[in-house]
Amino acid sequence: MAIERTISIIKPDAVAKNVIGEIYSRFEKAGLTVVASKMKQLSQADAEGFYAVHKERPFFNDLVSFMTSGPVMIQVLEGENAVLKNRELMGATNPSEADAGTIRADFAQSIDENAVHGSDSLENANIETEYFFAKEELCPRLR
Ligand code: PPS
Repeated sequence: MAIERTISIIKPDAVAKNVIGEIYSRFEKAGLTVVASKMKQLSQADAEGFYAVHKERPFFNDLVSFMTSGPVMIQVLEGENAVLKNRELMGATNPSEADAGTIRADFAQSIDENAVHGSDSLENANIETEYFFAKEELCPRLR
């Protein structure tokens, strides 16, 4: 299986709940390694740019407003099949539909405050990584 990198964002609701460590622990137990991370207060321009693909959707303004409501924790995860593995750890977008034991089932309240973001493809993982990190901020895992 290919070693991939993907972007994960712990959203303002989960940062406010003080569960960054619990979420990181799930990544590590699943065999994913954090190879870059930063806590950041997103500006309106940061959030609008990141979610530009959704700008015509009815929830766009609410999503931008939520994502700028407090700091987020952004990380690059590396590991076998990292894109899909992270999506499985996250659970469904709507926490009421997320499988038991997933991050969203355990930490999210609603579809508009759903604890985590994860890249949905390898192509988007690369685009999102470049959006938030300079090349030299990525620290390759020593194996
Ligand atoms: S997904 O996870 O990308 O397949 O889901 P999608 O339905 O395409 O949603 C895209 C992002 O928008 C968020 N979202 C919402 N925010 C606010 N209100 C409502 N109703 C809503 N529905 C979806 C969803 O969490 C996705 O954000 P990210 O950060 O990618 O998870």
